[in-house]
Amino acid sequence: MKLTTVLPILAALASSVFAVPPPQKDEQTPEFFAAKAAMQVVAAPPSPITIPTTVSFQSVVNPLIAKVDVPKIEAWLTKLTQFPERYYKSNNGVAAAKWIRDTVQNLTAPPGTKLTVSLYTHANWIQPTVIARYEAATATSLKGIVITGTHFDTYAIGHPNGVGGANPAADDCASGSSALFESLRILTTNGFVPGRPIEFHWYAAEEAGLLGSYEIAKDYASKAIPVVAYLNLDQSGYVKKGTTPVIGIFSDYTTAAATKFVTATAKAYSGLPVVENQKCGYECTDNAAWFDAGYNSALAFESSNANAFPYNDVVNKDGSPLDTIDQVDMNHVAAFAKNTIGFIVELSLVGGSVPVPTSAATSSSAPASKTTTTAVKTTSAAAGTCAHNVCTSGTKLVATCSDCAKAVCAADSYCCSSSWDATCVKEVAQYCTGITC
Ligand SMILES: *[C@@H]1O[C@H](CO)[C@@H](O)[C@H](O)[C@H]1NC(C)=O
Ligand SMILES: [Zn+2]
Repeated sequence: MKLTTVLPILAALASSVFAVPPPQKDEQTPEFFAAKAAMQVVAAPPSPITIPTTVSFQSVVNPLIAKVDVPKIEAWLTKLTQFPERYYKSNNGVAAAKWIRDTVQNLTAPPGTKLTVSLYTHANWIQPTVIARYEAATATSLKGIVITGTHFDTYAIGHPNGVGGANPAADDCASGSSALFESLRILTTNGFVPGRPIEFHWYAAEEAGLLGSYEIAKDYASKAIPVVAYLNLDQSGYVKKGTTPVIGIFSDYTTAAATKFVTATAKAYSGLPVVENQKCGYECTDNAAWFDAGYNSALAFESSNANAFPYNDVVNKDGSPLDTIDQVDMNHVAAFAKNTIGFIVELSLVGGSVPVPTSAATSSSAPASKTTTTAVKTTSAAAGTCAHNVCTSGTKLVATCSDCAKAVCAADSYCCSSSWDATCVKEVAQYCTGITC
């Protein structure tokens, strides 16, 4: 992805490196214009449902996002940046795709689910796109699928060896790639059973003009595959010094319904303030491919347009990198994983019933989760160990009541040994991610 804010830097680089300045919007290659033109001949089927405007599955999402693991995000992201580059025409770019596939293959699908992963081979270059699909073992009656994606390829503008030169590209886009993987890892390791199938796409060749996503979105539209919505991640890790971390929601090359919904999930689940109505001004990343195909699409980005990482896709004149791992705030990436989990879980379930959580759910004021919460309470009271919600003071709870009780009691053993008093309720805000009392 390249935002227009980077232009002064590019221009400065270009004047010293190139006889002719490079195109200002590096995704706008001749291949990009060909791919966009080819898209005009297809029309995607409409979403099988009306996208909701508010969240309604907090009782399912909150326990999941509480499990998002920053060290695991960092470990995966670090490994992806250790390929010399991930250029779409290079063997390293292919190896990176195979490594992503293998990390997905190493996840275990829990009972009642099915996880498949494959390499999508493109016609005109060697780097494949990685597609993982997570679904219920037995198809549900819910129509359509939910897709989330990001690119993992790299560019190195200014490199002595050309754009295929070395670049760890930690922010653009190992960060989004890692948030995507963590979202899938959380669903599989916590027994989540999708309603609608959920697909995770790691795209090849975005930097060369959204080439991977154009080919795939066109393929899906040609096959009339119904998609409820597509959520794109791109840079997800940079927080400009002196600014408050936010999630930027983009309103161009996205649809209003999907954008409104991702705004709702970001507010409910990311833990960050949301900056709406940001604009790329052109087809700057893969959501444009799904948008151009006629699908609902949205983009959640690391910042406002103005505060984006300024050194994406560029390296120093001597080839040394600028987009290095120390530019990435792993907690920021975690917020994008949480938002992604919220978006895909909600849209996977909407229109169906609320699955009963396997462990005691905690607070929720959402009407849709009432039945579940009540059911859990009854069970818990009978067991005599989880007599009340973590947001209510009362008798001591046991750590096995919920992840939240466990976290609070780990920090303050009084809550599990004597009584769950007002202090314990206050501590929920501190130790339980995603739960507000
Ligand atoms: C997959 O798991 C095996 C066994 O733990 C491990 O040796 C291998 O490195 C893993 N592959 C990846 C790509 O993480
Ligand atoms: Zn990017």
